[in-house]
Amino acid sequence: MTARARTVYRCTECGAEYLKWGGRCDACGEWNTLAEEVERPSARTRARGKGAAPPPSTPVSIGAVEGARSARVSSGLRELDYVLGGGIVDGSVVLIGGEPGIGKSTLLLQVAASGARGGRRTLYVSAEESAPQVRLRAERLGDSALLVELLTETTLEEILSTASATRPELLVIDSIQTIYSSELEGAAGNVGQVRECAARLMRFAKESGCAVFIVGHVTKGGGVAGPKTLEHIVDTVLYFEGDGSLDFRVLRATKNRFGSVDEIGVFRMTAAGLEGVDNPSALFMGDSSTPSSGTAVTALIEGTRPVLVEIQALAAKAGYGTPQRVANGVDPRRLALLLAVLEKRSGLPVSQLDIFVNVAGGLRLSEPAGDLAIAAAIASSVYDVPLPRDSVFIGELGLGGEIRAVSQAERRLAEAAQLGRSVAYVGARGVPNRSNGTLRLSAHENLGGLFAALFRS
Ligand code: TYD
Ligand code: MG
Repeated sequence: MTARARTVYRCTECGAEYLKWGGRCDACGEWNTLAEEVERPSARTRARGKGAAPPPSTPVSIGAVEGARSARVSSGLRELDYVLGGGIVDGSVVLIGGEPGIGKSTLLLQVAASGARGGRRTLYVSAEESAPQVRLRAERLGDSALLVELLTETTLEEILSTASATRPELLVIDSIQTIYSSELEGAAGNVGQVRECAARLMRFAKESGCAVFIVGHVTKGGGVAGPKTLEHIVDTVLYFEGDGSLDFRVLRATKNRFGSVDEIGVFRMTAAGLEGVDNPSALFMGDSSTPSSGTAVTALIEGTRPVLVEIQALAAKAGYGTPQRVANGVDPRRLALLLAVLEKRSGLPVSQLDIFVNVAGGLRLSEPAGDLAIAAAIASSVYDVPLPRDSVFIGELGLGGEIRAVSQAERRLAEAAQLGRSVAYVGARGVPNRSNGTLRLSAHENLGGLFAALFRS
């Protein structure tokens, strides 16, 4: 039988495959996501084997499996090691997503430079920039970056054959959207290409023990471009985020087969590359020397670290129609809930006001422990009364306006005390009775009590 090229339509969101084009993907319900893909027979016959059934594989008992090499190698960047769960694992594949210009290439060139400095064989594949462009970047990063072996190549087969010959211990692919397999039709970056390239790189990593870092561009929706399946293929998915206008960046894991997904790494972009930030709290706090209304500070637990974060709110008279609610770094549904609680339980007239809430430093508030600070910031803006100097707000709000205890309260308070906060507003229950140096606790049952203390004294 002669093999013919096969056309399939694949959903760019979930990777589901169809024989006919349609406007909507039945698997994930997204519209306009089916893209045409042509598979050349060679890829298929290889994938399916040639006729005869392959010989059976022999299972082994797990106990007989040779001890996994769990040794980790430092990436040279303490913050990255942190997020990876303690360093780079041999044979692992790490996807780093982020918007253009955020610093993905810089980060990975620094990792490669550190590897080269430590005598590891490193191969940096640039499929996006020319060799002179990469050199320019390397010059800014210091001498060891100049030791990194560079390959400017876009064909997957060429990349893998070079890698098989030079046997690197660390391979960087910059980026997955600009390389393509010549065994598949379709341009680099199309769903099938991205998936196939990632799967082949994964196989290479597992077979050779080489750690592979893959750069992935993100779509407007914030995911790595290409199918979700790309994230399923790799071991670890990291997102590099940051406020484009500011020079610090947050690295966050959304999937990690070798560690926790709660850790964040904080970097500052300097003239000589990325630098780890020792005290992230300092970054997420504004200049508090001049207290202004609408600003409140809370203590979050990011991964295993407590971090103080400043929240700003602005309440302004709505022009016309439905008042606007704009939330940066806060889930809009959480904000809606908090506004309803504020209106109903503390009589704060917010329903006719435009409300803007912003978390400093582009950080995302994903814990309810920040509720109290959001509520206090909004109330402070509505009354136009600044909150007490050097205060911190820690608590979750219930629908009844009650202030609930939060997890790890002691560690949050310790961080607040360490950073010179003098008063902590907390819920009345679950308050640790140990004092924290100069930090005074002000405990309240509910919002009404808190606001009476803050604004009506
Ligand atoms: P880059 O790593 O090219 O981003 P990405 O690969 O995610 O697109 O980083 C681009 C930005 O970083 C660019 O605006 C220049 C800046 N930069 C520095 O500020 N200092 C440096 O040492 C380097 C190498 C880049
Ligand atoms: Mg780049």
